[in-house]
Amino acid sequence: MHRDATQTVFGAGDQDARVMLVGEQPGDQEDRQGKPFVGPAGKLLDRALEEAGIHPSEAYVTNAVKHFKFTQAEPRKRRIHKAPNLREMTACGPWLAAELAVVEPELIVVLGATAGKALLGSSFRVTQVRGTVLEEEIHGRPERLVPTVHPSSVLRSDDREAAYRGLVSDLKVAAGALS
Ligand code: URA
Repeated sequence: MHRDATQTVFGAGDQDARVMLVGEQPGDQEDRQGKPFVGPAGKLLDRALEEAGIHPSEAYVTNAVKHFKFTQAEPRKRRIHKAPNLREMTACGPWLAAELAVVEPELIVVLGATAGKALLGSSFRVTQVRGTVLEEEIHGRPERLVPTVHPSSVLRSDDREAAYRGLVSDLKVAAGALS
């Protein structure tokens, strides 16, 4: 993965952040700019966080996987996102564990299936647990987590408004768990 990507995209945000948001992997824009969630999904996420009462600057934002994985029909054609596999998620695990150990967030917001599987194991199903506060041991530490959908899935949804409302509603659960 690292051979094709422009650069490694680590997390960003305050080391003392109360909440850590974990996405899947950098997208095209994130790969170019070297920062997580700076593309369209990130813009939507920022808006949803504000609406839920979590200021984006209060949050540390990162991804389960640190490189952009993509297919490209020809050079200079659009780079199409490809989901990371279990091996790639496992290979990036120590970096996520290190970020958790440094930031020690009070709450982790799990954005979608890849982040959920990376943190909670392969049986994770976002539809079953979204919008609830989970308590699990992760990398040897007790953590509280609120899973929700990935913001990119809102952008792809047939009913974008309803999907966006669902994301905000889950993030409000996270905001409530922080206060
Ligand atoms: N999607 C993600 O999961 N992470 C990013 O940083 C951008 C898009």
